[in-house]
Amino acid sequence: MKKTITDIINFLNKECGYDYAGHYPSMLLRRIMVRVEETHAGNISDYSRLLQSTPGEAEKLIETLTISVSMFFRNSLTFEIISQQLLPALLHSKITSGNHEFRIWSAGCATGEEPYSLSIILSDTFSRESQPFESTIFATDMDEKAIRFAKKGIYGAATMNEVKFGYLNKYFKQDGEFYKISKAVKSMVSFSRYDLLDPTNFAPPESVFGMFDMVLCRNVLIYFNPEYQEKIFYKIFRSLSPGGYLVLGESESIHAKYSNAFREINRIAKVFQKMQL
Ligand SMILES: C[S@@+](CC[C@H](N)C(=O)[O-])C[C@H]1O[C@@H](n2cnc3c(N)ncnc32)[C@H](O)[C@@H]1O
Repeated sequence: MKKTITDIINFLNKECGYDYAGHYPSMLLRRIMVRVEETHAGNISDYSRLLQSTPGEAEKLIETLTISVSMFFRNSLTFEIISQQLLPALLHSKITSGNHEFRIWSAGCATGEEPYSLSIILSDTFSRESQPFESTIFATDMDEKAIRFAKKGIYGAATMNEVKFGYLNKYFKQDGEFYKISKAVKSMVSFSRYDLLDPTNFAPPESVFGMFDMVLCRNVLIYFNPEYQEKIFYKIFRSLSPGGYLVLGESESIHAKYSNAFREINRIAKVFQKMQL
């Protein structure tokens, strides 16, 4: 069984360039078994042979392995803290430094609900300021299909439960059963495909040099073992500006190797700040 899973991981890496070696085997096995059933392969060894001899099956398996569930304002406390604590602090330091540009990275943005939620609260915050501010939210995911969906900015009601009525009226346009995100909110987000395990770039190439004021990496690290989490933390750490904020998913925590590099801002919402040099 273990050898078959390793064969499948090696094949996906060779064929598609995806590295699943850092995922928990039990989680991988559960998802692979979905394809075993769907293809009527009978067992995992037969499925491994089918995978390696059937064009297109690798893509189908990757789709099954990818969990890109998201929603607007997921874990609403997190967004309250961003809007009421982090953004005012960042505004203050931007005004002091005279640099009015915010740089934010949504790492593992799935279908776009997270970066658009951020863009909404940034738009709202900026609209109350007397001075002009600009922001770019670099939103990345390794799932090309999720990125294509996100770029459209059109959502069904299922992911919108947590959107406040005021935001719904101001930042969305309803079209039948769907909600289209406003142009202003959309224009603040730059989507691109980026694999967090890519060894060649420590930050998304679109962002050129990182230096983010805030990085959100939520509900991504849970899928990786500590060795791979460390690789991702290295990127997050390098790409965050000193004093910048890191927001994790509610069941995630700072990797032990980086615990001294961050101070905790909010334990429940998993918000941290990178220590100043
Ligand atoms: C459960 S979604 C989280 C979406 C959003 N951050 C949220 O919390 O609602 C996890 C996302 O992580 C992405 N992901 C997993 N491994 C990745 C990797 N190595 N590089 C980039 N994205 C990855 C998946 O494609 C998926 O879209």
